[in-house]
Amino acid sequence: MSLPASPPHPACTVQSAACALSASPAFAALQSHHATAADWSMCALFDQDPTRFEHCSLEAAGLFLDYSKNRIMDETVALLCALARERGVEERRTRMFAGDKINTTEQRAVLHTALRAPGTPPIMVDGQDVTVDVHAVLARIRAFSDRVRSGQWTGTRGKALTTVVNIGIGGSFLGPKMVCQALRANCHPSLTFHFVSNIDSNELDALLPRIDPDTTLFIVASKTFGTAETIMNAHAARAWLVEHCGADAPARHFVAVSTNRAAVTAFGIDADNMFPFWDWVGGRYSVWSAVGLPLALAIGADGFAEFLAGAHAMDAHFRSAPLAQNMPVILALLGVWYRNFFDCRTLSIAPYWQDLQYLPAYLQQLDMESNGKQVDLGGRPVKVATAPVLWGDVGTNGQHAYFQLLHQGCEVVPVDFITVLHADTTRPAHHTALLANCFAQSAALMRGKTEAEARTELAAQGLDAGAIDALAPHRSFPGNRPSNTILLPAMTPHALGALIALYEHKVFVQGVIWGINSFDQWGVELGKALAKGVESALQGNVEATDATGDASTRGLIARARSAR
Ligand code: F6P
Repeated sequence: MSLPASPPHPACTVQSAACALSASPAFAALQSHHATAADWSMCALFDQDPTRFEHCSLEAAGLFLDYSKNRIMDETVALLCALARERGVEERRTRMFAGDKINTTEQRAVLHTALRAPGTPPIMVDGQDVTVDVHAVLARIRAFSDRVRSGQWTGTRGKALTTVVNIGIGGSFLGPKMVCQALRANCHPSLTFHFVSNIDSNELDALLPRIDPDTTLFIVASKTFGTAETIMNAHAARAWLVEHCGADAPARHFVAVSTNRAAVTAFGIDADNMFPFWDWVGGRYSVWSAVGLPLALAIGADGFAEFLAGAHAMDAHFRSAPLAQNMPVILALLGVWYRNFFDCRTLSIAPYWQDLQYLPAYLQQLDMESNGKQVDLGGRPVKVATAPVLWGDVGTNGQHAYFQLLHQGCEVVPVDFITVLHADTTRPAHHTALLANCFAQSAALMRGKTEAEARTELAAQGLDAGAIDALAPHRSFPGNRPSNTILLPAMTPHALGALIALYEHKVFVQGVIWGINSFDQWGVELGKALAKGVESALQGNVEATDATGDASTRGLIARARSAR
């Protein structure tokens, strides 16, 4: 395939030789600014400005962002916004929403926003209004989910379907699993959901004995319908179903979600049981498409529409709000500030809401697969750091595991705290304690504790001077560690949709600033290709030398072969 030359980066139109981020004037201005900023105390900034919380917070699409606990001043935000402007964030945002083929290495439009847009105005790709197709598939999702939820769609022996098994990996797994768990409380009472992704048969084998083939619906979700893990698991699941319910059973127990109709029919799933989506939807951006079918089954088509509406509300905010009041832009710029100027290598996501337990893994794919790149749109080295390593877990669990490092370790790790203000619970005291911990952690990270404060505390506990000298360094905290706090009003489909769209646009803005293509993922291909050769060698079909040139891999293959 020959690729057309990438269009020039917006900054290049002004400075043709110097479009690398590191050479941009706004970047240089931020570097000088950072030289004075490194030692600012956030607590002192709060003392100097009693309105800091008010003017360092934003509301959008029902979400609230407090970004006041960051090492920034008004000038920092102004300079970061100048960087965004200089890097062409606004122009590129317009091009994305318009359906331009901004994924230049694959010559594709990037239109996950069209999946949650109303039917008008039209959004054109290659002369076709994609909203027509989107709404046609949404109507099919509604009809199918209504039939399954009401028990009208029965299995091959006439029983209603009560177990849904989604077989998919990456974007065809992380999104539906995360959102079904997040909205667990809204789920249909007689449906249960399972997600099988791993090529390791332990996952499927642990599930199959626990479910009833007569009442199980398998959804095979794969954009390409060629992903090894998914196809292998789908074949195994189909063989199990046929063994228990007969050769005709897949017609009533298997549906597919894909862009690849030919491969779906070749697998043996009728086109009538396939829910399509399109190449302009990236896998990690696909939960809004038919890949979200498990969520539509779980919470119903109206709930799914609310989920899409929440994301659309965030899209509308992102398109129209000025940069300095734009929630995804601010979140992105803060990330760039820490990554490129403070050299913070990781970002921790801390949802204080148990049902958001899969959010860190979801955001890991969104952020790291999108922006884990080292060349710019023109194929030149980026020369600055790009995506941080993203990781995290729910609070309060993380507090009893890795928060030690966040408070006293040598790395500064920015944290996004995410929590929910209203909980529909019979245990309100638990929810109060959850919020208290969430807010206290960000306060502790910022405030820290000086050695003098630690000494006073230890003295008040009656320790002698020697013990105080020994303990005080261990009991003090550097503080000044940054965080954002995102509040959802309640865990509703609308709020969840807005939250995911917030992070999608954050990742987009960062990609534009770094000048990279956030929408391809060539980096996953090499390992996949090598695995084929290694698999043949493990099966004894080829010599290990043909599969891989290195002695380590050959040695491992030899050991694995002799162990079998
Ligand atoms: O290997 C990476 C990847 O291509 C992801 O980008 C994608 O979400 C995942 O594999 C699954 O792909 P598919 O939906 O085509 O099976």
